[in-house]
Amino acid sequence: MKKLKALFLGTAVLMSSMLAKAEASFPTVMLYKTPACGCCTEWAKHMEENGFKVMLHDVPSTAMYRAKAGVPKGMESCHTAFIGDYAFEGHVPAADIKRLLSEKPEGVNGLTVPGMPMGSPGMEYGDRKDPYQVISFSADGKMSVFATH
Ligand code: CU
Ligand code: CU
Repeated sequence: MKKLKALFLGTAVLMSSMLAKAEASFPTVMLYKTPACGCCTEWAKHMEENGFKVMLHDVPSTAMYRAKAGVPKGMESCHTAFIGDYAFEGHVPAADIKRLLSEKPEGVNGLTVPGMPMGSPGMEYGDRKDPYQVISFSADGKMSVFATH
C-alpha cells in the first residue's frame, strides 16, 4: 500500500513538472510587416531573445492585419503580430506580452504601443529612452493602460 502511494506521488510530481515545461514554451508569434521595415525585424529579435518563436511575413501593407486585430483608431504602429487569439501592435515589450498570456485579463484582445517610441524594444537608439505606455484593447475598442515604461 505504501509503495502504491509513493508511485502515485511520483506520477503527480512528474506531471506537474511536465505542465511547468509546457507553460515555459510560448506559442509562435505570427508577425506581419512591410519588407523595408528594419525596426520590425529588431522587435522580432527581441521576441526570440525572450523565448518566442517568430514567423515573419512580409506583406505589402499591414492594414488588413491591423483591422483583423481590432487595433483602435489612432493606436497604430509599424507591424501587427498575433500569438494565438491575441494581437500585438508595434513595439510591445516581451515581458508585457508574457504577463498578458499568463494573466489573461478579461475582455482584452491585445496590446499596442502606438507610434514607435524611442527606447522601446526594437527602437533602441543610443541611450535615448522616451516614456511610453502599453495600451490594452478589447474587441469593442475599450482601452486601458496595461504598463508604463
Ligand atoms: Cu517599428
Ligand atoms: Cu515594426
